Amino acid sequence: MSIAVSEKSNVFLLSTKSTSYAFGMDDRGLVRHLYWGKKLLSADELELPSLTEVSTNDPVFEITPEEFPVHGGLRYKEHCLKATFADGTRELVYQYCGYDVEETEGREELVLHLKDEHYAFFMDLHYRLYPQYDLMERSVVLSNQTEDPIQIEKLHSAQFHIPYENLNFSNVHGHWGAEQQRFVQKVSYGKIVIENRRGISTHNHNPYFVLDRDATETAGEVYFGALRLSGNFSGVVEQTQYGETLVQMGLNDHDCLLELKPGETFAAPAILCGYSDSGFETMSHNLHRFALDHILRKDCRPVLYNSWEATEFHVNSRDQINLARKAAELGAELFVLDDGWFGERHSIQNGLGDWYVNEGKFPNGLEELIDVVKELGMKFGIWVEPEMVNPKAQLYQQHPDWIYHYETRVSDTSRVQYVLNVTKPEVRDFIYNMLDDLLTRYDIDYIKWDANRPISQTGPQRDVWYKHIQTIYEVVTELKKKHPDVLFEACASGGGRIDYGILGIFDDFWTSDNTDAYDRLYIQDAYSRIYPIKAMRAWVTDCPNFLSGRVIPLTFRYHSAMMGSLGVGCNILKFTPEEVELSQRMIRQYKEIRPIIQEGVFYRLDNPSANQYFLYEYLKGGQGVLFAFLPQSKVGHRGTTIRLRGLEEETIYVLHTAEGDLEKSGAYLMHHGLPLKLGGDYASTVIRFEKKQ
Ligand code: DGJ
Repeated sequence: MSIAVSEKSNVFLLSTKSTSYAFGMDDRGLVRHLYWGKKLLSADELELPSLTEVSTNDPVFEITPEEFPVHGGLRYKEHCLKATFADGTRELVYQYCGYDVEETEGREELVLHLKDEHYAFFMDLHYRLYPQYDLMERSVVLSNQTEDPIQIEKLHSAQFHIPYENLNFSNVHGHWGAEQQRFVQKVSYGKIVIENRRGISTHNHNPYFVLDRDATETAGEVYFGALRLSGNFSGVVEQTQYGETLVQMGLNDHDCLLELKPGETFAAPAILCGYSDSGFETMSHNLHRFALDHILRKDCRPVLYNSWEATEFHVNSRDQINLARKAAELGAELFVLDDGWFGERHSIQNGLGDWYVNEGKFPNGLEELIDVVKELGMKFGIWVEPEMVNPKAQLYQQHPDWIYHYETRVSDTSRVQYVLNVTKPEVRDFIYNMLDDLLTRYDIDYIKWDANRPISQTGPQRDVWYKHIQTIYEVVTELKKKHPDVLFEACASGGGRIDYGILGIFDDFWTSDNTDAYDRLYIQDAYSRIYPIKAMRAWVTDCPNFLSGRVIPLTFRYHSAMMGSLGVGCNILKFTPEEVELSQRMIRQYKEIRPIIQEGVFYRLDNPSANQYFLYEYLKGGQGVLFAFLPQSKVGHRGTTIRLRGLEEETIYVLHTAEGDLEKSGAYLMHHGLPLKLGGDYASTVIRFEKKQ
């Protein structure tokens, strides 16, 4: 039983394999948080401490850790919900009216029923447990049973309380070409806010929180939560005056107003959260395993070739066929035709919205290329950017009112494009039908769905900040029902669209247009903290790299990209015979280790050396892979010692090193470690190992 209720003390104790979360109702009806941490044994042991205000300026509401603080009364900290009733009342007063324990698909979920004291406005707090992953999902469902509409001005899905000050908060910052740059900052008095106001997801921050007490990869306390929402989110971390830290996340209230009509309900996006007392590694493992088992589509992702960097907009049937032939020779399993195949798309100036095949570029139709790709034994993928339109496109000429706009304002273009108001039923239908036609008419296995600008001039509707992304989720979900074998890749100007909202709705995720193999080590490291490896698309591209100008050996480039779902984006028609041979070898090796990489357990290993080695391990069943990178050898030119993780101490493992096979026990490999010395710049190696039979 994961949910224990002490009727005696009105306390709820929710437990997973090794963690517990507790709260209770006091005699004034407040839902008060009690505990989040290592597993407890009994709800009966927990008590609600009696509360007295510190002073008249420090009222009880301020010092009470509430599960779902609302706007109203003597509450001045960050609240989760602010609503305005039809009569102008802007204060909420909730009452506890009971609970239910629901069981769906073998999972327990506690639903706590709260109701406004005066209005028929209901707030159900949901706590869904995933015991074997040490994870819980929290959310709230609002229901308007009054006769009038209710305006929801702010809605955060849950509040969490951490009983410490001076925590470390980590997230990522970044921009196009520099996504997933991890940062850590001390939490002190005041608030830290991370948010997205762009409508389309952002490269700037990612919707999750990680708060730790000086944790390392393998030790220390970590509290984390990931919001299941793309688009506009906000997250607030607040160290209070009373010895604790609050954190909450949900919809961004920036310019957003939701209206709940009589009889309507609204489910806020869930927060997938957890606690680890053994560092960041456990956090990543729990999230990864849950995502692999319950969110992402099964099966490994194919090795793809994407022609974007090779041809950009200069697409034509002959070149793409030549590239496809070469891609198949290298071992690619999926050929993706990127931007430039449709309408008058010769640059960023035109074409978006006109989703017909450009006859000049494909005089024999798209079928000619697709047939060759299929004959070569590959799957076929195609790029689209359905949410956008160029001003010059026929679609815009025919439907100027389909874009987000105000009648009295000029809508901004960005990358010479407008954003379509996908919340209009006719626009939504256009997008669905266009993609359905494309998938029905052609033998397409993979859609790369791009989105290259943020939303502006949303028009009078203030809920589009939320509804835009919900519509995209719906369209893709519906398309997948009709075309169940098609994989969908989410891309937004590189890696601008990855979060636990879109994960699973889409299947594959473009990590960044920054394909510099050295920069990627940092990007991938940060990405892997929260998101599963299978959802991390990584390409090998040409050198000098178009962004960094750096020249990195092809082997290092392959090794760096093999850490995720491997792809190739080079102009392979220019490959030398040596580069072809090396690519074939690498892709062959990747296919062998792919299940370990994409579905195994991932470890960011410690590097004890003064030289900056990047060390990673993947483990699945009795098989494993080690990756070691040395971007630059420095004074002293020291080697390192790789201390592996997750092995069985008494089992003997066979390691296939460049110097030959080695046999060592799990204990030796984990405690003593494997000495390794790489030399020169951009050195790298991949070592496979398995349990000795
Ligand atoms: C941005 C993406 O990140 C690229 O991979 C490519 O698809 C271009 N858009 C095409 O315009």
